Amino acid sequence: MLSLLLAVIYVLPAYIANGTPVVVLRIAGPGHPLDMGIVMRDGRRLLGDGKTIEGLASGLSAGLAAAFLSHVFLPGVYRGLLECGLIPVGAMAGDILGSFLKRRLGVERGGSAPVLDQLGFLLMALLLAWIPYGPPGWADPPTIILLLLVTALLHVSTNALAYLAGLKERWY
Ligand code: CTP
Ligand code: MG
Repeated sequence: MLSLLLAVIYVLPAYIANGTPVVVLRIAGPGHPLDMGIVMRDGRRLLGDGKTIEGLASGLSAGLAAAFLSHVFLPGVYRGLLECGLIPVGAMAGDILGSFLKRRLGVERGGSAPVLDQLGFLLMALLLAWIPYGPPGWADPPTIILLLLVTALLHVSTNALAYLAGLKERWY
């Protein structure tokens, strides 16, 4: 239970990076597509309109700020500045890679890709942070599995809440 709490604190900046664009884009308008409208040879967009410069900038800023504050005020969570930075960077990269893969699979913007939508950002964040440092002390297999389950549940429930609050068009 303690290791799960540590795990959630560790990945919190990834959640913040992932959730911020939804709120910011709802307030700030449609934004500028990150892929600049580029269409690939398969006839589909490189990323689609769901990935914007404003979303990336706001998600990265909020995620990096959260990670840095956590690193300063909760020493021991991260093993260095690089590790705390790689969590939100990895989350945004994973989210963008997820959209790239969805377009290649023919899933339209906003369409559902189970597992990829809920966990892609987290898996990429963990992968990037663990390349230089290796897994942290809390990361035994049961805790990692629980963390993935908790993240998927949180993703589905916050999405449903965002839908009810009028932030998102779809409940999933
Ligand atoms: N968003 C953004 N820029 C990002 C990430 C997210 O502008 N880099 C905003 C978009 O308004 C997007 C919303 O956050 O619609 C929800 O994000 P997400 O579910 O990742 O995008 P989808 O619209 O579902 O698009 P995709 O099918 O590509 O995942
Ligand atoms: Mg989506």
